[in-house]
Amino acid sequence: MTTQTLSAKTDHYNLKNYDEVYNSFQWSQVEQNFSWHATGLVNIAHEAIDRHAKTEKANKVALYYSDQYRKEQYTFKEMKDYSNKAGNVLKNIGVNKGNRVFIFMPRSPELYFVLLGTIKLGAIAGPLFEAFMEGAVKDRLEDSSAKVLVTTSELLKRVPVNELPNLEKVVIVGEDVKEDETYIDFTKNFEQASATLDVKWVDREDGMILHYTSGSTGKPKGVLHVHNAMIQHYQTAKWVLDLKDDDVYWCTADPGWVTGTTYGVFAPWLAGVSNVIRGGRFSPSDWYQTLENYNVTVWYSAPTAFRMLMGAGDELIKNYNLSSLRHVVSVGEPLNPEVIRWGIKVTNLRIHDTWWMTETGSQLICNYPSMEMKPGSMGKPIPGVEAAIVDDEGNVLPPNRMGNLAIKKGWPSMMRAIWNNMEKYESYFLAGDWYVSGDSAYMDEEGYFWFQGRIDDVIMTSGERVGPFEIESKLLEHPAIAEAGVIGKPDPVRGEIIKAFIALRDGYEQSAELQEDIRNFVKKGLAAHAAPREIEFKDKLPKTRSGKIMRRVLKAWELDLPTGDLSTMED
Ligand code: WT7
Repeated sequence: MTTQTLSAKTDHYNLKNYDEVYNSFQWSQVEQNFSWHATGLVNIAHEAIDRHAKTEKANKVALYYSDQYRKEQYTFKEMKDYSNKAGNVLKNIGVNKGNRVFIFMPRSPELYFVLLGTIKLGAIAGPLFEAFMEGAVKDRLEDSSAKVLVTTSELLKRVPVNELPNLEKVVIVGEDVKEDETYIDFTKNFEQASATLDVKWVDREDGMILHYTSGSTGKPKGVLHVHNAMIQHYQTAKWVLDLKDDDVYWCTADPGWVTGTTYGVFAPWLAGVSNVIRGGRFSPSDWYQTLENYNVTVWYSAPTAFRMLMGAGDELIKNYNLSSLRHVVSVGEPLNPEVIRWGIKVTNLRIHDTWWMTETGSQLICNYPSMEMKPGSMGKPIPGVEAAIVDDEGNVLPPNRMGNLAIKKGWPSMMRAIWNNMEKYESYFLAGDWYVSGDSAYMDEEGYFWFQGRIDDVIMTSGERVGPFEIESKLLEHPAIAEAGVIGKPDPVRGEIIKAFIALRDGYEQSAELQEDIRNFVKKGLAAHAAPREIEFKDKLPKTRSGKIMRRVLKAWELDLPTGDLSTMED
């Protein structure tokens, strides 16, 4: 791999000197920014919205919302009033502290009012991605014993209300809603509701959000986060997103996924910045237009999106004025050096990779704007967090040894439970102290972390240990390749052989010559043993909503096995 570094441009960032801060930082320094020092209790929704509504930020725009049909904006004061109203709608139908309120609807301002209103009541919000089909919805509502669901008339068709005995009320956002014992008309009740609400003050360790995520086996699991997470949401908004008062920030993730709540709701608003939410589907021109329309300054997205923009060509982006953009950040899967090079070519900005997981609640290993960047590396742990590579017994390994990427237990936004399954929760921790991520990685001598793959994805071929990411990254540098997923295919002689699934860019045809050319390209660029012995062309590869190629699905296809839980797969 190249270890060429990309140096940082200027020195006016929130985190100026990583090493200095890393060596002296204590989380208690951040705690003082919040209200709990007066009461001992807290509420993250109050800290994110209401706190600003009492200051000179009251009339600052908190939310710029737009989709195909709507274009609206709301100040912090309005966000306070509307989330209070949504809270009252829920309170009036009996929602109390600790109840699970699920939210199953496309992005819209109402979704955000309801999410914040739920949390203001001390209840636990369960956002569900709108593309979920009936089975996925049922699994989650059942497992969490949800009491209330907020959804739209269209999506209601996918909710098996009669099969969910714990579900008491269904609140419907839409027109002409017929109310009865179970069904509640959101719009009517929202209009009538008071804009004054007594926020429920809760313990920092009380639950506030439940995100379901899939593992490699079994049903999706409910990852519980608590109000205390706001400490890290806030601090990473400063250090990693580099947010400052006059920023206009856009996180492209849907709140059905953790990125869309931690960094689409909490982090920007805890930091008091204007937050752009774009509804509807991805399209390259629409995304560029959104950046231009709002003069977005800080942008958080995913490698899969950057690659799709890259695939749309370098001419398209020239039609838009993106001159306000100053900081670009990425998460969800490996950020290929090729994509970083493209970003620099078309915007003159580095794309900063960040690593974290649903379970970790916020960013943990990152590239900071003031730091020298090694393309392909996830960066270094945020101050206040200790990361290491450990073996299967929890012993810390020296630099350049591949092993389990692990985090010392106790960072503020760490999950506090797997819903209904403490055994699963405990299984994440090794030797008591280390949270084991399930990712394999190594750390170089300078403390940069390099992602290698999910543990179960690492390939052993003829005794050589090969990370699929490295091969996929190399494949993406080939001019014909749009997407690549690499798996180990069992082989009687070599243990495993490397098989690549490839989607070609527009204008390329599959052929035996092209296969050979690709193989040679990897041989030349990486190593002979890393070249895929088998190549299969596909129109599209299976991906999660956060953009990870689902190698598990590729493997199942290959071996003719069941594909398992597909609820997080992109449609
Ligand atoms: C897994 C977690 C919370 C972020 C959205 C995904 C992979 C995440 C990176 C990165 C390489 C990454 C890991 C991790 N991942 N970020 N920067 N480089 N891999 O959250 O769905 O919970 O998935 O995503 O494999 O374990 P998630």
